[in-house]
Amino acid sequence: MDDAIRFENVWKIYRMGKVEVPALRGLSLSIRRGEHVAIMGPSGSGKSTFLHLAGALDHPTKGRVLIEGRDPSKLSDAELSRLRNKLIGFVFQTFNLIPRLTAIQNVILPLTLQDIPQSERRKRAEEALRQVGLAHRMNHRPNEMSGGEQQRVAIARAIVTRPKILLADEPTGNLDSHSASEIVELLTRLNKELGVTLVVVTHNPDVGNAAQRIIKIRDGVVYEEN
Ligand SMILES: Nc1ncnc2c1ncn2[C@@H]1O[C@H](COP(=O)(O)OP(=O)(O)O)[C@@H](O)[C@H]1O
Ligand SMILES: [Mg+2]
Repeated sequence: MDDAIRFENVWKIYRMGKVEVPALRGLSLSIRRGEHVAIMGPSGSGKSTFLHLAGALDHPTKGRVLIEGRDPSKLSDAELSRLRNKLIGFVFQTFNLIPRLTAIQNVILPLTLQDIPQSERRKRAEEALRQVGLAHRMNHRPNEMSGGEQQRVAIARAIVTRPKILLADEPTGNLDSHSASEIVELLTRLNKELGVTLVVVTHNPDVGNAAQRIIKIRDGVVYEEN
């Protein structure tokens, strides 16, 4: 099984009181290990819902999700946390850094959930910051950095656990076009150099075109792949 992510006829229906909101309506797709894929589609089409399920943050209402061949809905809570922490890295539009922590303290955080000695954690965090070109900003806090730099710290935090899958939800949505293209270049390089499977949700055609394949979704289903 070479698929990093596989969705088989996946439905996700949110319930808000008596109202049912179907966000995914029988979505099927496969993403191969090491692939760089862009997910595009109008606002409200189910892109973020797809990423949440692909990152095992939520379960489908119907259908099956497989992440590296494993079905998250069949795992215990402990196995599920392990899968999220070890296999998957998340990058968000709004960076989601902790303001009072320095860059390196932010990057170390995910490692504190793992059984790794203190000195090794620091080494790994420094390495991740080097990989995103921010070794010299290690001791700066988020508000002392540009948006592009903050997103690079967030990417370092996402790769510090050496995940197999990197999921990014509109990672350039809050950035100017110059910083956006730097972030796309960085993500593309990490996909090639680390072999990490990269899934980027985006509205930006330039971000989409950097991918090997674009999957377009609308109303919770795939309507075009190329
Ligand atoms: N937690 C939630 N509760 C209720 N409805 C939701 C929730 N999250 C998303 N939705 C709805 O599901 C649909 C798809 O949302 P989303 O996956 O965020 O789309 P996109 O990321 O493509 O904009 C939208 O109609 C949205 O309002
Ligand atoms: Mg979204």
